Amino acid sequence: MSPRSVPDPPADPPAAAAPAAPPRLDVRGLRVAFGGLVAVDDVSFEVAPGEVVALIGPNGAGKTTVFNAICALVRRRGEVLLDDAPAPGRPWGLAPRGVARTLQGLGLFHGLSVRENVTVPIADRRGAAARADEVLARLRLTAVAERPVAALSYPDRKRVALARALVGAPSLLLLDEPAGGLGADDIAELGAVIGEVAASGCAVLLVEHHVDFVMRVADRIVVLDFGKVIAAGTPEQVRTDPRVEEAYLGRRVEA
Ligand SMILES: Nc1ncnc2c1ncn2[C@@H]1O[C@H](COP(=O)(O)OP(=O)(O)O)[C@@H](O)[C@H]1O
Ligand SMILES: [Mg+2]
Repeated sequence: MSPRSVPDPPADPPAAAAPAAPPRLDVRGLRVAFGGLVAVDDVSFEVAPGEVVALIGPNGAGKTTVFNAICALVRRRGEVLLDDAPAPGRPWGLAPRGVARTLQGLGLFHGLSVRENVTVPIADRRGAAARADEVLARLRLTAVAERPVAALSYPDRKRVALARALVGAPSLLLLDEPAGGLGADDIAELGAVIGEVAASGCAVLLVEHHVDFVMRVADRIVVLDFGKVIAAGTPEQVRTDPRVEEAYLGRRVEA
């Protein structure tokens, strides 16, 4: 028995606040192992609607594996939530939940035309042609829309892959190395498109090797090394973090 007979008054209830929207993507304690190799170890981060988050790190850090785990392309442990509900455990469950992605290897159908590639995800939907035209125009692909992807330059193919991801108007866009292999002009254009997509309310997760690019486009950066998060924060916080400089072999992370 407590010696006190009079209970404490209840604490004041917290001031009424508008409930914050749940993160569009919430990754908690993610772990992926390939045999004895732990490629992703207790990784947690969130992406809010309208936010651009970049996952960076040296080669082999586990970036693509995090991406593949979110997309249910590898066996994962831990939690992946979309709007506070468990993400699909199979890759074909993603599109119906508003998730689109581009892959590091592009994954285009080289024998099909640009337009056919872009309309694959929406082939059976009304308004698909108009939406495809809009996305093709935004990505400057209208003039090559009827050409086979095999006839396109690499930067054009990257834009086709992005167009295919955007055509379904996703609310979560996952991009694996979108700037990889591109020159300065294409990278600048990519940054502008990503900014527009985020401004429309879409959550964007970029997996990138290209540090300068993410410093410009990301609202927040999560840094991986050997499968673990070693730093996270705004571009400014991450750029000046000594652990990040060390992970990049002692080189300064230039803006
Ligand atoms: N399917 C796989 N089987 C075995 N090991 C893998 C597989 N995929 C990736 N790895 C290993 O996991 C680690 C992380 O790789 P990855 O996620 O591709 O790194 P990043 O995208 O950051 O360069 C590396 O050591 C890589 O060799
Ligand atoms: Mg990778």
